[in-house]
Amino acid sequence: MSKITLLGIETSCDDTSIALVQDGVVLANLITSQWIHKKYGGVVPEVASRLHVEAIIGMYDMCLELAGISQDEITAVAVTRGPGLMGSLLVGMSFAKGLSLSLDIPLIEVNHLQAHALSLFIEHKPVYPLLCLTVSGGHTQILLIKGDFEIELIGQTLDDAAGEAFDKSGKLLGLDYPAGPLIDQLAQSGKPVYAFPEPRVSDFNFSFSGLKTSFLYFLKERLAVNPNFIEEEKFNLCCSVQHAIVNILINKLHTAALHYQIQSIGVAGGVSANSELRSAIQSMCSKNHWNLYLPKISYCTDNAAMIAHVGYSKYLKSEFVDLSVNALARYPITQTL
Ligand code: KG4
Ligand code: ZN
Repeated sequence: MSKITLLGIETSCDDTSIALVQDGVVLANLITSQWIHKKYGGVVPEVASRLHVEAIIGMYDMCLELAGISQDEITAVAVTRGPGLMGSLLVGMSFAKGLSLSLDIPLIEVNHLQAHALSLFIEHKPVYPLLCLTVSGGHTQILLIKGDFEIELIGQTLDDAAGEAFDKSGKLLGLDYPAGPLIDQLAQSGKPVYAFPEPRVSDFNFSFSGLKTSFLYFLKERLAVNPNFIEEEKFNLCCSVQHAIVNILINKLHTAALHYQIQSIGVAGGVSANSELRSAIQSMCSKNHWNLYLPKISYCTDNAAMIAHVGYSKYLKSEFVDLSVNALARYPITQTL
């Protein structure tokens, strides 16, 4: 039987990524991050889409070369349709449509959030039911995955995403964007000596905007007394704010797992690269004898392997779209299901 080779394309934000997945196995997963946004303290949409345009063709060629695949061996092309920045999404969508037309292969659209959740199963066989915490720069959700493509949204952030909480707190500390990885690194040398109130939010929803505000007022107060406070306390501040964010996430996840009597937990999205979150979830799962699914870091942050992975399942179900399909800046996970 001939092999099924899926090309995945991801350009929803500031990472250009191209991957090739053959019969469900990742052959190559190339990711280029646009570091220029550091300068601006956040992603500038216009700059992001221009850089996707500059990068995408070279990355496509490189991906084929790395995987040892020729263009005519590609069976279908899967692309992120949304949610994300419209200009960025359009670059990936246009490129995918061009390939679909010129190579005469099916086009498959993928919801970015669904792809993050199902990235848990790139390297592992799926187990159901499973609770997935998706934590990224734009989203924070708890999903109940009941079966193949059967996903229920049971909680989400009411304001900022967990990644935003890291990035905005980091900005207050004078750290470059994205501050999440830097806070993680600096926190290793600190202790969580400062406490911040945990938000009271009903059900399995989250809120992070209160933490950002109390962190801001706390810093203002301390800086008024000691202008070097941030510099002197950088490690403890990073550790404390990280600890507060991780606690909010873990407490909700724990309550949800008990409520739904779940035995398997997964974490997806860029923030799942966080070392304190990873170890807190590991210890929660081992204490409760729950199975844990933690994808490797290159499948946690934005990547095209997760898009091709979902594309492969959709290909098997012949879920194709025609060239009139539009990118969607807002594309709730519930709309896909
Ligand atoms: O999933 P992702 O790559 O992009 C989307 O937002 O879709 O997530 C990016 C987010 C950023 O907010 C970044 O600061 C955060 O993930 N992040 C981290 C870490 N690595 C990435 N946050 C905390 N600790 C990390 N190690
Ligand atoms: Zn993402």
